[in-house]
Amino acid sequence: MALLYLRAVWPWLRKDTAVQHKEADTLAFSRSVSHPARTIEPVRKSAPVTSADCVITCYQGSCMTAFQASLELDLQEPSTASPVANAAAVDGHSQLVAAEPKGVVYTQPWVVDLILDLSGYRAEDDLAARYAVEPSAGAGAFLVPMVRRLMTSVASRRRSVADARESIRAYELDADVAVQATRLVVQELREHGLSETEARDLAQTWIGVGNYLLTSPQDRRADLVVGNPPYIRYDDLPLDALEAYRRLYPTMVGRCDIYVAFIEAGLRQLSEGGTLAFICADRWMRSAYGAELRRMISAAFGVETVIEMHDAPAFDDEVAAYPAVIVIRRARQAQAVVASAGPGAGPVAGTSLADAVTGLAHGRLTEVPGFTATTVDHWFHGTRPWPALEPHQLHLLKLLEERFAPLEDENTGTKIGIGVATGADRVFITTDPELVEPDRLLPLAMTADTRQGTLQWSGHYLVDPWAKRGSLVDLDEYPRLRTYLDTHGEKLQGRHIARQRPRDWYRTIDPVHHQLTSEPKLYFPDMKLTSNPVLDRGETYPHHNLYYLTSKAWDLEVLGGLLLSRVAQLFIEAYCVRMRGGTLRFQAQYLRRIRVPDPDSLPEPVCDQLRQAFRARDRDAATTAAITAYGIADHANVLAC
Ligand SMILES: C[S@@+](CC[C@H](N)C(=O)[O-])C[C@H]1O[C@@H](n2cnc3c(N)ncnc32)[C@H](O)[C@@H]1O
Repeated sequence: MALLYLRAVWPWLRKDTAVQHKEADTLAFSRSVSHPARTIEPVRKSAPVTSADCVITCYQGSCMTAFQASLELDLQEPSTASPVANAAAVDGHSQLVAAEPKGVVYTQPWVVDLILDLSGYRAEDDLAARYAVEPSAGAGAFLVPMVRRLMTSVASRRRSVADARESIRAYELDADVAVQATRLVVQELREHGLSETEARDLAQTWIGVGNYLLTSPQDRRADLVVGNPPYIRYDDLPLDALEAYRRLYPTMVGRCDIYVAFIEAGLRQLSEGGTLAFICADRWMRSAYGAELRRMISAAFGVETVIEMHDAPAFDDEVAAYPAVIVIRRARQAQAVVASAGPGAGPVAGTSLADAVTGLAHGRLTEVPGFTATTVDHWFHGTRPWPALEPHQLHLLKLLEERFAPLEDENTGTKIGIGVATGADRVFITTDPELVEPDRLLPLAMTADTRQGTLQWSGHYLVDPWAKRGSLVDLDEYPRLRTYLDTHGEKLQGRHIARQRPRDWYRTIDPVHHQLTSEPKLYFPDMKLTSNPVLDRGETYPHHNLYYLTSKAWDLEVLGGLLLSRVAQLFIEAYCVRMRGGTLRFQAQYLRRIRVPDPDSLPEPVCDQLRQAFRARDRDAATTAAITAYGIADHANVLAC
């Protein structure tokens, strides 16, 4: 994967305000535009923007609702925007706007065509009858092709150009960049036969200097919101801007990027059946900060297409934000297309790339250079992460998730946990069996002990301050333990946990559950390239870099075979973020995502194959047996067995 970097220069708009206002005068949206058939009412200048009383622009009899139907989305209603935000919303030029970085990355024409085609914005249709919004127009990478399609549509339907006057709206925060976009749109319109004056007038009606996030709540519902929103990390945003956005866009939680707010704003603006089509970073699909956005989408929208583009040449510059194309409709979820674009992706001769990729997903085409694609029948519910997998792997993953139960399951008494954290390993871990009273030493399994695939205890012990009943031992009963702990008293008492509970100064961070030592269990070392479960027959207690699994119903060697297989690996790869060098994290939250068959449903010969494969550490044999156990022989090629 190419090493990507984000363009380092953030063009700041701290310029002479007089110049800005002059440019804005020529570019800001016409506030009152007459048209033979329609009238856009002027915006009420100083109206406070609230969710209930947001400025409403009526158009063709269809008015926007309060802040684009926040209640329909099953979200908290956005709170009243701050006065700062209001000022910006009205004239687009408050300090808040002026102080913001712009997150500039420009999109390649073939990607723009792909996205416009996927969204259905095609010249064959009556585009003048639609309302299309470009929320962050830049120099017009999307806008100019949109204008081209619109003008072709107008001409082929013998419509008047005036019919298209209110069919497009483009926002751009940076006045200089908006001037460039205007120039290019004028040029495009001239090619469609408009005079300089007509072209300039139309372009200025369409393009405005303004902050989409603050202004769009006042805009009318759109059939299409399309583009490439800015990428700006939350900690690069001025605090007042961040606060204003968070108030308006409740999905903008945690350490999120501004593009999350653009997705929410775009979705809110959609009319029934309307489409949002963006290329933007895909981190939100799996990260904690994207959870609320995922919930909003699954509550009220349907995901139509996701094309991962990490390695595809999608932008003018190389960028660090791994991008994806998303097409989301305000409609019920139906079958979705999932595709992946590699370095060889680009336009295809003689046909629409969007049609080709969709054809590939549905099996009508066998090859589209640079792409893999498939369909999935259901999308992911609620805040659940959207997995990062090759399309065919995703197809298999969905199938497994539909058919099988989670690994951690009350019905099978299967639990996953993590070993003990001490807060002072140098004090609590020893190899000296004489250090303290013998019953205060627990054999401790360390990550290194699992390296060979079988547990090879390295002779480490945990100095165990816990009584069997779950409270700390009375040190008066253990004079050697007391002497040892007193020697390290200062260090132990300096720990956060000891400062919180001074009487328990000699505790480990986690309590020890003594029965776990004698229970058979599987260990999973955290950072690994492949799944590597290791059996402990009930001899050790796990250290905190080891995750463990215990089960009442499973034969752990049979389960170990399943978890050694590439089927288990598929789940981990889908949900965990890979580290540098391809290392995977085998943490509890990812292990819990693995689905497994009912242990009672497995025929004995299959159990035996899994057991033997586990004992022999034979991943291929484990995968072959797992394919039989899951009944997924048709998908064996996906697992590259
Ligand atoms: C990633 S660039 C995309 C430009 C263009 N759509 C493209 O694909 O090439 C994002 C653009 O959004 C503009 N921008 C940043 N914040 C904005 C905001 N709050 N409202 C409108 N535009 C904004 C930036 O100035 C920049 O031109």
